Amino acid sequence: MNIVLLGAPGAGKGTQAAKLVEEFGTPHISTGDILRAAVKNQTELGKKAKSYMDAGDLVPDSLIIDLMNERFQEPDAQVGFILDGFPRTTAQAVALDDMLARLERPLDGALLVDVESEVIVKRLTARRCCKDCGYIGSDADASCPKCGGEMYQRDDDNEATVRNRLDVYEKSTSPLIDYYKGKGLLKAVDGDRPVDEVYADVKVALGL
Ligand code: AP5
Ligand code: ZN
Repeated sequence: MNIVLLGAPGAGKGTQAAKLVEEFGTPHISTGDILRAAVKNQTELGKKAKSYMDAGDLVPDSLIIDLMNERFQEPDAQVGFILDGFPRTTAQAVALDDMLARLERPLDGALLVDVESEVIVKRLTARRCCKDCGYIGSDADASCPKCGGEMYQRDDDNEATVRNRLDVYEKSTSPLIDYYKGKGLLKAVDGDRPVDEVYADVKVALGL
């Protein structure tokens, strides 16, 4: 399985990716997770990316493209991949096409998880994530239902930053819907339904 997950921040890309990983074992490559780890470990990449992420703006394309070129060299990415949060601009999508052509690994599809903005603002301001296993939950979870770990709120999940992330999505990322439509690769699911119903549609859309 070689797929791209598209959709606004908070549409449920990470949630659906976790279900695909659990069922199919395909590597989940999330640029957001890679960047947050880099910020936490205070690497050079993390130091450069932090201010953009805190503001809800995009990290410059050149940093992201270098990061993904490296990530595709790792052995697990040879098995397949679920790309989550990449590409996010047309320049990144063109770079991805080049990377995949070099690797001779064509995309099977680009799956859009579609959810409208006001639902997203509610979801993201309530989102909490597990410090230990990365489980994505909400403020209804006192501790992680998977491992008992402590739940925390991402720095960019406050309302003002969420609204900026939605604007950035509209302006810079939503043109990728037409980009993949033009290549005959776009598939879409309604993401504003219970997680398991969305997942059932995801599998149908991807022919799994
Ligand atoms: P990133 O980490 O990619 O954030 P994002 O795209 O904003 O996406 P999210 O992780 O917020 O949302 P999601 O769609 O995965 O939703 P989730 O499943 O968690 O990026 C963060 C930052 O890094 C960016 O702002 C940017 O600065 C930088 N960055 C990353 N990649 C970059 C790139 N390629 N180029 C440049 N910069 C980049 O779900 C959200 C919530 O909703 C959860 O609480 C969940 O439990 C709940 N939920 C999920 N599904 C449902 C459902 N069906 N019903 C009800 N609730 C649900
Ligand atoms: Zn956990």
